[in-house]
Amino acid sequence: MTDKTKWVVKDPKRKKVFLPSPAMKKRAYFSSTSLYTTAAKNPKKFWGDMAKEAIDWKQKWNKVYEEKPPYFKWFLGGKLNVSYNCLDRHLEKRGNKVAMIWEAEPLGERERKYTYRGLYREVCKFSNVLRKLGVRKGDRVGIYLPMIPETMIVMLACARIGAIHSVVFSAFSGVNFKKRVDDCEAKVLITCDGYWRRNKAINLKSQADIAAKAKSVKKVVVVKRFEGKSPVKVVMKKGRDLWYHELMENASEDSKPVPVESNTPLFLLYTSGTTGKPKGVIHDTGGYLTQAYLTTKLDFDLHDDDVFWCTADVGWITGHTYACYGPLSLGATMVIYEGSPDMPDWGRLWAIADKFDVSVFYTAPTAIRMFKKMGKKWPKRYDLSTLRILGTVGEPIDKETWDWYFDYIGHKRCPVIDTWWQTETGGTLVNALPGIGPFIPTVAGRPFPGTRAAILDDKGQPVKKGETGYLVFKSPFPPGLLRGVWKNPKKYKDTYWGEYGNRTYFTADGAKWYDKHNIRITGRVDDVMKVAGHRLSSAEVEDAITSHPLVIESAVVPKPDEIRGQVPIAFVVLRPGIKESEALGIELVKLVRKVIGPTAKPHKVYFVEGLPKTRSGKIMRRFLRSMLVNEKLGDKTTLQNPQIVDYLKKVVGYKKK
Ligand code: PRX
Repeated sequence: MTDKTKWVVKDPKRKKVFLPSPAMKKRAYFSSTSLYTTAAKNPKKFWGDMAKEAIDWKQKWNKVYEEKPPYFKWFLGGKLNVSYNCLDRHLEKRGNKVAMIWEAEPLGERERKYTYRGLYREVCKFSNVLRKLGVRKGDRVGIYLPMIPETMIVMLACARIGAIHSVVFSAFSGVNFKKRVDDCEAKVLITCDGYWRRNKAINLKSQADIAAKAKSVKKVVVVKRFEGKSPVKVVMKKGRDLWYHELMENASEDSKPVPVESNTPLFLLYTSGTTGKPKGVIHDTGGYLTQAYLTTKLDFDLHDDDVFWCTADVGWITGHTYACYGPLSLGATMVIYEGSPDMPDWGRLWAIADKFDVSVFYTAPTAIRMFKKMGKKWPKRYDLSTLRILGTVGEPIDKETWDWYFDYIGHKRCPVIDTWWQTETGGTLVNALPGIGPFIPTVAGRPFPGTRAAILDDKGQPVKKGETGYLVFKSPFPPGLLRGVWKNPKKYKDTYWGEYGNRTYFTADGAKWYDKHNIRITGRVDDVMKVAGHRLSSAEVEDAITSHPLVIESAVVPKPDEIRGQVPIAFVVLRPGIKESEALGIELVKLVRKVIGPTAKPHKVYFVEGLPKTRSGKIMRRFLRSMLVNEKLGDKTTLQNPQIVDYLKKVVGYKKK
């Protein structure tokens, strides 16, 4: 509480530019911009030095970086094991330190705490279970689990034996899970009976059963989340399904970590792109862990006495890096929470932060917008004085939301670290650092030390200050950046290296320079939506809708939403002779829910006679997007059916500004 904020007016138009207080500067690992200048002089040396600090290598690399565009490698020949780095190496000094605190959604259920030694034992045991089930180095394991400790245990157990895990968000449907299992040909799936969400017992096993039908799947391990009599009905298939607790009972605690070469895949994480098929983003071992470690340490200025809480679900990259690998590689104490932020009321997260003395809190703008709406009375009920640093991620944060977070959660004491990054980047890439700043609402900040960002125009030329362009990264590429798309090198090349050639990583985000060093992100420039911070492609939702027999085609576009950032809106063309009806609209929404999951469900369905198309037949979603926000529509002459625009304007009630 002694750490008083120091605001200085640097920019008279924006009024507020926050610089670190003297206390923050004093405590921080770095408090001078010389960190950036030194790293920029020789990024490879910078990352080499950082990798030495971050990782206990079983064998040191013989070359720090190599590029064969569009592929690149870090720490070539170096050998390491991620679970060793997250567990074993902490045992001597931090064996009894709490590594993970788990809070269940039901208030009556006690939290579970794991020390580093305790977590190590569980991970060793489960790695032996996996071995017994025939899982070997390089095999894929599909993980479909909610926020429970076993999720991190099984991820680390995979890493221990060199198996590649692919975690799928537990709120995704079983159909969606199966698509991913089919693609990565997972041998073993790990799921649970169910979990609590908004006081409702969700039956996850029944959804997992859909994916278990995939050809590659030999065994399904089921964690028993519910204590005592289960509130959901679980059917175990003989010979295929096995209970986690039974397998663990006799498993040995003796498990040697398998060292792997630095550029070996650690995990796959499927994410939405511009087509209907999600891409299996490949993350490597040494580069990823170095970035996870260093960004956790520097972005959140994480010290041994901190308690770190990243609220992201582990089904997303944020959960992988900041609710598992980052904090654990640092030997930190982290909190995870099973449930919904409004259970039993909107004070729950603050109650948890108070209960466990959380000092670093990391969440998404969509959550903060909801808290803002619910009012400051909720955080006011709790003691949040242990908080030092606040973070946000997932979508642009507007000024009012930033201010509210800063005022009512951080009590004008904690900097807000607005971190820009992507599933593909593995760790944060653009943000301010707590001891350096500046912290400016709506400005993410500075490219991470040792990385080279640029903002380019259509022709590949750098934009001038204040102009919007495309955010890209130049060589040497960040160590955490993806190394490929599973079984799809073409997609890797086209999506990330197709725009400006294979020496420039294309992020698909618009951005502008706020000043010489700091970047403001303006949002996606492709057909990817961010719904409540979740990444969703237009094509994915359209595919689900057009799978309905009465639908000919559809277009799904985002519309701004006060709380969720964006929500999907569907335009649907029915087969000739089929009448539109409210019931059919509801059926389509349900279908999307079933095929993808609840986040993807359209907030409105417009039944229309046709969609705007180019002469080559491509749907021009741009027109629909602009119509929904009453924006200028632009040139219609490229359309094959320009007359449809006036009709659609009427349908949506378009009013030109
Ligand atoms: O558009 C950017 C937005 O989220 C996209 C990446 O989404 P995903 O792969 O799901 O990863 C989210 C968590 C890392 C980006 O292309 N985005 C992420 N963080 C920010 C952001 N937009 C603005 N500001 C941010 N801080």
